[in-house]
Amino acid sequence: MTPQNGEKDPKEHIDVLLKERRLYKPSAAFQKKAHIAGHARLQALRKKAARSPERFWAEAARELRWIKPWKRTLDWKPPFARWFVGGKLNVSVNCLDRHLDGPRRNKAAIIWEGEPGETRTLTYQQLHGEVCRFANVLKGLGVRSGDRVAIYMPMVPEAAVAMLACARIGAAHSVIFAGFSSDALRDRINDAQAKAVVTADGLYRRGSVLKLKEAVDAAVESCPSVRSVVVLRRTGTEVSWRQGRDLWWHEAMAAAAAQCPPAALDSEHPLFILYTSGSTGKPKGVLHTMGGYLTQVALTTKWIFDLKDEDVFWCTADVGWVTGHSYVVYGPLANGATTLMYEGGPLHPAPDRFWSMVARHRVSVFYTAPTAIRTFMRLGDEWPAKHDLSSLRLLGSVGEPINPEAWLWYHDNIGGGRCPIVDTWWQTETGAVMISPLPGATSAKPGSATLPLPGIEADVVDRQGRPVPPGHGGYLVVKKPWPSMLRTIYGDPKRYEQQYFSQIPGIYFTGDGARRDKDGYFWILGRIDDVLNVSGHRLSTMEIESALVSHPAVAESAVVGRPDEIHGQAVTAFVTLKGGRAPSPALAEELREHVGKTIGAIAKPKDIRFTEGLPKTRSGKIMRRLLREIAAGQGVKGDVTTLEDLGVLSKLQAEDEE
Ligand code: PRX
Repeated sequence: MTPQNGEKDPKEHIDVLLKERRLYKPSAAFQKKAHIAGHARLQALRKKAARSPERFWAEAARELRWIKPWKRTLDWKPPFARWFVGGKLNVSVNCLDRHLDGPRRNKAAIIWEGEPGETRTLTYQQLHGEVCRFANVLKGLGVRSGDRVAIYMPMVPEAAVAMLACARIGAAHSVIFAGFSSDALRDRINDAQAKAVVTADGLYRRGSVLKLKEAVDAAVESCPSVRSVVVLRRTGTEVSWRQGRDLWWHEAMAAAAAQCPPAALDSEHPLFILYTSGSTGKPKGVLHTMGGYLTQVALTTKWIFDLKDEDVFWCTADVGWVTGHSYVVYGPLANGATTLMYEGGPLHPAPDRFWSMVARHRVSVFYTAPTAIRTFMRLGDEWPAKHDLSSLRLLGSVGEPINPEAWLWYHDNIGGGRCPIVDTWWQTETGAVMISPLPGATSAKPGSATLPLPGIEADVVDRQGRPVPPGHGGYLVVKKPWPSMLRTIYGDPKRYEQQYFSQIPGIYFTGDGARRDKDGYFWILGRIDDVLNVSGHRLSTMEIESALVSHPAVAESAVVGRPDEIHGQAVTAFVTLKGGRAPSPALAEELREHVGKTIGAIAKPKDIRFTEGLPKTRSGKIMRRLLREIAAGQGVKGDVTTLEDLGVLSKLQAEDEE
């Protein structure tokens, strides 16, 4: 389908490999209590939303508390959308203050468990107090509405406190996953020109301590915009200190007032920037705004996870990713729900950590990634079997296509055969879920994210934007604006337009391939651009390539993904060396470490393959398709007529057979 780096793809359509026919209907028992119960009710909602998506979303937005009502629901000047124009609200008020008037006041907002095993619960009232205090700390540091704050934190309640405090005063947060390296942190801070950084001394991961403050110190050396660094004491690790710039979280909080009037913010005021990988070397700062984002996040959390007051909702994502933003923090809190946060590794100290937590906290709704499910599946049924998982009533999946085998294992071994599974398709850019079953209304097919939500107009089209017939692969697009869509790429509206709206003019292109079956169900086939999906995390091939060529031994590199049973894809790097440098296992390890230092451990290539040359077209473009086939060990099947030097290919294949 999509030409990769200019190479010609011989096939008209993406190969359609999965053929899954089983149908799982919502049980009568589940339906009886569901927010959206029954197929007929959902069909009626779909119809209503299709007649006027704007009216549908306006009704959803009215569930929020607004300080000033909006004048226009949507202003759409493609590719730029503004939702609830003229309205004013405060996201933290919607997530906190409005729950303080009734019985939710003393309800657990966040239940937290640290990796070493300690637990903490913050009620809505307590969380509100913490957020107000931290908002005052930020104000005291000179952070104003419209400024940016970088958050580089462990999975601790203070990460959510910092996010909500930013929202309260109208500063945009940029959460950077704590697994990113100091260099990656520096680039993201500089791109957003963050005024303050919120971090911790360290975090616990798989039994050891990762030093966060040290990484921040190194990054901030080259970040002239940063005036202050707030440090949470988490591990007690020794840290170096810059007087006048650094301050302890606990000291600043002790001195701050517990009242902080919320700012009345425009619906289109920036809420956060979140960096994600695209098809170039430079990460994109995806910008989300207040009213539209919260509307869709709140509605999807309620409908898809069927949240009720008595639920304990556990989304296992880190706050460093969009799933952590939307379904650990904003969505559950906007619904007055109880959200569980866990700090550490899923297999620590034993492979049943998650199941022991489900049992101890009586988790009722559990949302995780296929990679985790496949890992647990491989570790064996005995680990979940040790625990009482009867509190679970609904399961979710996100981040990658879930293979039917993993779906069925999840259904039987975790869900005890009684819990519906919601396979939710969405992206950092979409802000909230777009394609998913509603658990009390949609029949699921293992491996399919099923159908777009009411109010979302997604389709599968060909290169000219024409819908493709059922069973054929094509581009996954969204044809109408939706409230939680990204508004731009921070500081680069041209790139926003070019990246998402130029493939098919005026229509949002997701970067994914998909097909629809005869029932209209969507089957996501994965990325068709130069983006890899490793364990549900997005990595750019170009970003890893530029990290590799920044090493003095490397002349050229090409990074591709190869299928991996557990992680979905694994990073394979083909590397040619500069004259005088010889390949060796030690050099391969050095290069892996170098990528780890430049981007973060998640980006380290699994395989490094040294080669004398890379297959290129006559115009000099690397033929990634060939490399992907070689990396997958399939032998080269496609068209090679545009290849410049056939000798390179036979050498690469010969190396493969060695
Ligand atoms: O390829 C799709 C895949 O993850 C990409 C988005 O990645 P990111 O922005 O990091 O957000 C991940 C969490 C929302 C998509 O372009 N993806 C996400 N969910 C699914 C999926 N692929 C198949 N099925 C899903 N349910």
